[in-house]
Amino acid sequence: MEKLLITGGQQLSGEITVSGAKNAALPLLCAGLMTDETLTLTNMPDLSDTRLLMRLLTNHGLDIQFQDEVISLAGAATNFDAPYDLVSAMRASVLVLGPLLACYGEARVSLPGGCAIGSRPVDLHIRAMQSLGAVVELADGYIQARAPHGLTGANIVFPNVSVGATENAMMAAALAKGQTKLINAAREPEITDLGECLNKMGAKISGHGTDVITIDGVAALHGATHDVVPDRIEAGSFIIGAAMTGGNLRLHKVRPDHLDALLAILKDVGVRMSIDTDSITVLPSTDLKAVNVETAPYPGFPTDLQAQYMALMCIADGYARISETIFENRFMHVPELMRMGADITVDGSYATVKGKIDGLKGAPVKATDLRASISLVLAAMCANGKTEISEIYHLDRGYANLESRLQACGATLTRAAG
Ligand code: UD1
Repeated sequence: MEKLLITGGQQLSGEITVSGAKNAALPLLCAGLMTDETLTLTNMPDLSDTRLLMRLLTNHGLDIQFQDEVISLAGAATNFDAPYDLVSAMRASVLVLGPLLACYGEARVSLPGGCAIGSRPVDLHIRAMQSLGAVVELADGYIQARAPHGLTGANIVFPNVSVGATENAMMAAALAKGQTKLINAAREPEITDLGECLNKMGAKISGHGTDVITIDGVAALHGATHDVVPDRIEAGSFIIGAAMTGGNLRLHKVRPDHLDALLAILKDVGVRMSIDTDSITVLPSTDLKAVNVETAPYPGFPTDLQAQYMALMCIADGYARISETIFENRFMHVPELMRMGADITVDGSYATVKGKIDGLKGAPVKATDLRASISLVLAAMCANGKTEISEIYHLDRGYANLESRLQACGATLTRAAG
């Protein structure tokens, strides 16, 4: 297994163009199941997660071409089974459920199983399909869903906010008979992006980006071309990296309006930034102050930036209380950061970080999940000495060409065989 060797102490300075968002790319790829015509997606990040999903979609029968950040998907699905090995490797694979059911009246999708950051059930996805009239059975570890006479629009009230369940329901309802309202829907920019793409394909969706999404079902969708929204989590990770290393970093192709919660907190922390319509420049900052954070569904502070923010708090002045409200087991980066000298106490869903003004120190650490991994990279870049991060395959799930992009901005890091 590969590892990353990082020598700390260099400022992250220069220019980075932000990639298309992983969390938008995955549902958009699944939307390719909803028409025989060609769906062309531009600004596609080249990630192990997107490649895995392409394998699954090819297995369903789609013809997929991928070159230079452009993916085109065409053809009809001929196989409605999403097997355990592909779904368990990536939970977002469950997003084929709604499209297959809506288009073909049947789907057999493996239950994704547990994952490192919590049990992550799919009950809300299943209940949404049932509300639209599907008959769903759970057998042999699979969701077996049928709607031989098609789906029917309904009012679906989500008891709690789920990004994936909102996406699955939105795709299924796009081809249901009549109107669907998704109430207490997730509002993430990636959901807005999916809604916009589906509308280009002929769907009639409104309210995406708010907590009530209205979908008037249509008989069929057609081909379209869509540009994937910039990755706010990747952008946020690089902003935090620049702040931690005192760098001067300009990010291009970014949507600052998608980062409001992070940018507001970072201002309080003392990170100096210049913000434009589609770029953000982080200016060299010193005297960073500890500020409390609580994760929440969008437009709140993203759980996917919690680990990176915690790394930043390790070098800020004072105590920061970080509350994780979305996932129950998302502090696995804590013991690894502590190996680098961080002072953190966890109590249930709270972590209290005592900032160390004398900084972090390099150490051998282990990547445990995608966002935990990048938090260790950021910590290593600002630490004294060398850090060796093992199990970095997690990083490749969500950060395209990470080493070369960080190296171009002054970071000293190399990948080595484990
Ligand atoms: C998506 C993102 C992930 C992000 C998360 C929360 C993608 C591909 N992944 O994941 O990066 O961290 O949103 O912003 O977009 N839940 C249930 N039952 C369900 C579904 C979810 O109880 O059927 C719970 C989850 O366990 C979790 C909460 O709802 O506690 C939110 O999860 P959800 O928004 O569904 O996350 P994902 O869509 O899996």
